[in-house]
Amino acid sequence: MNSVHISHDPDLVAQNVAAAMAEMIQRDVPFHLALSGGSTPRRLFEYLAKHYRDSIPWGSVHLWWGDERCVPPRHEDSNYRMTKESLLSGVIIPPDNVHRILGENPPAQEAERYAMEMRKYMPMEAGLPKFDLIMLGLGEDGHTASIFPHQMELIDTDAWTAVAAHPDSGQQRISLTGRVINQAEAVFFLVTGAGKAERVVEILEDHEGSERYPARHIHPASNNFTWYLDRAAATKLRF
Ligand code: 6PG
Repeated sequence: MNSVHISHDPDLVAQNVAAAMAEMIQRDVPFHLALSGGSTPRRLFEYLAKHYRDSIPWGSVHLWWGDERCVPPRHEDSNYRMTKESLLSGVIIPPDNVHRILGENPPAQEAERYAMEMRKYMPMEAGLPKFDLIMLGLGEDGHTASIFPHQMELIDTDAWTAVAAHPDSGQQRISLTGRVINQAEAVFFLVTGAGKAERVVEILEDHEGSERYPARHIHPASNNFTWYLDRAAATKLRF
């Protein structure tokens, strides 16, 4: 089902998302989870590491990323570094199950390698890798993962991964593409802060012109799709 879950503040968003994830992950059943990057997820990851270290069977989890900056893993921009600091330092996931995007590699080569790794480890459906859960953030320009408004072709391309570029900094990124994201069993958007409120209302209420935002084109075929918002990000919604 497509639903919107509004919490009072970012801490409560993290608590609600963590509880939802804990419901989904079962012992001895592989769970392919793709994480979002940026700054929003850190609070969730720290909460999971502190409160769900033992109650989530982390040995079942295969950890992937929805996107990564093309930087080394210790770089301050690295999504892997943020995840290592906030989550991986607190929970035990078998190293072979952590499928890091190698940001230090040549981008085109890494996009191909990451796709091959998905082919090797993941179940397939409709010719696409089938994630159990993909977590996404929302940029103020309406981007998600690293699919930016100037690269809308990454929504419908047949490729599973792509080399993207941040529109302002030009920083190269490796990103999952729209078709892979929409093939997931479940998709969570995790969006907090007043800065996102305008994009949230345009996308969730399908305002005219919202089709220019990549996030507007994310809707998993499974229909299992939840927007987790804090009140600040939801402030313009009319319901
Ligand atoms: C990234 C993300 C990106 C992020 C949004 C929101 O690598 O930056 O995956 O899609 O989710 O830009 O970022 P914030 O959480 O920092 O607002």
